[in-house]
Amino acid sequence: MTAQFDQIFPLGEPNDVYAQYFIGQSYLAPLTGGDVPVSNVTFEPGCRNNWHIHHGTGGGDQVLMCTAGSGWYQAEGEEPVSMEPGTVIRVPEGTKHWHGAKAHAWFSHVAFITPGENLSNEWLEPVTDAVYDELPPDERRRCMSILNENYTLTNGVEIPKLGLGTWFIDDAAAADAVRAAIELGYRNIDTAQAYGNERGVGEGVREGVRSAGVAREQLFVSTKLAAEIKDHDEAVAAIDESLAKLDIGYIDLMLIHAPQPWDDFRGGDYSEGNLAAWRALEEAHRAGRIRAIGVSNFLPGDLDNILEHGTVAPHVNQILVHAGNTPSALLEYCAAKDILVEAYSPIAHGEILKNAHVAAIAEKYGVSVPQLCIRYTLQLGTVSLPKTANPDHMRSNAQVDFTISDEDVRALRELDESDYGDASAFPVYSGK
Ligand SMILES: NC(=O)c1ccc[n+]([C@@H]2O[C@H](COP(=O)([O-])OP(=O)(O)OC[C@H]3O[C@@H](n4cnc5c(N)ncnc54)[C@H](OP(=O)(O)O)[C@@H]3O)[C@@H](O)[C@H]2O)c1
Repeated sequence: MTAQFDQIFPLGEPNDVYAQYFIGQSYLAPLTGGDVPVSNVTFEPGCRNNWHIHHGTGGGDQVLMCTAGSGWYQAEGEEPVSMEPGTVIRVPEGTKHWHGAKAHAWFSHVAFITPGENLSNEWLEPVTDAVYDELPPDERRRCMSILNENYTLTNGVEIPKLGLGTWFIDDAAAADAVRAAIELGYRNIDTAQAYGNERGVGEGVREGVRSAGVAREQLFVSTKLAAEIKDHDEAVAAIDESLAKLDIGYIDLMLIHAPQPWDDFRGGDYSEGNLAAWRALEEAHRAGRIRAIGVSNFLPGDLDNILEHGTVAPHVNQILVHAGNTPSALLEYCAAKDILVEAYSPIAHGEILKNAHVAAIAEKYGVSVPQLCIRYTLQLGTVSLPKTANPDHMRSNAQVDFTISDEDVRALRELDESDYGDASAFPVYSGK
């Protein structure tokens, strides 16, 4: 059953409900409803759970709502029900049940128990791997455990493996998209000065922090210094502007968008200008205003310039990587220099959706083409940044709990599909 939470229990009425929450496997003492607004409760990832029963006299019914991640609910003798953010389940008092997710996955929830006498919880046997393994494969694939997985950058900062791209999401629509993504469990959001939506992205981050009950520190927000800025003082001013527009305290990652201005992409030599811009990023990084710094669209020569003359090595290089366009040599170069690669346009800006060969491989795994393509970039060891403003797409893009075989990864790696149709006019798809 899915319903709006406040349609079931109005919040804020003292003593009419008890709010309870899980941190990992711990079950904490009840909080008195009304004393603790839900927005103030920290929802940490919960993991596997036990079979348990709530007892009470004249109460003890429970309503639980999944707030982030995904998992399952099962009442004894009934089919398991998949839980995603917003799913609300009523559990009658005395029902033996479990809810949770496998250890590598997670979901978090809030539970409300109707008041009554002698409320207690009886904890029974833990839910075993065998129970999870018996869940229907389609259900297992729906698991969004990737949202809880991170890479670690060379400076120790953790970066979520899956992020939300926001290119072509208007400033006015960005807040809703970003908030929806955070509510679904996304923790990594990618924007840029050039997208013209930093204000909306920042608003969405602030709203998402409130509505999903996560801390700002649990999110990872990236932006990019405009490709045209190849001057130290202009870069300093532009960094200030990004910080002001985003208005989220600090930036997690800021990249030089491209080694050359867009109207001269792969053209002239801007090594001095890149070093000047890099120095501004280094200063903001040292001042704690940007947690990690990097580059985008940089080739080995562009990287060497920064590696040789900068004082901080780039933490990230964000480049075009998708099934049909796998820059293996550049990926290897970045790996050799300990620079994490972020794959942009993992769905080839939408073009790959038309590819019959990729569709056939996706069908073999029972997944969609976007799911296959996202999983492919993750198996290459890159951060994947699919763009969408559609919450249904956001959800399915995170349901990538399956493994592409080595043979199929090889086939996708060898695929050459770099015709971007109308989008070929953009420098990044020009084949340069
Ligand atoms: N650093 C750079 O120079 C650079 C360049 C390009 C991109 N990027 C970054 O990478 C992000 C992603 O790249 P991108 O925007 O080019 O494209 P993309 O993520 O490869 O593809 C986006 C397209 O796929 C569609 N899509 C997404 N999920 C879908 C689903 N589940 N089912 C069906 N269609 C789906 C989207 O449509 P809907 O919107 O309708 O879902 C959109 O048309 C950008 O937003 C940006 O953050 C960086």
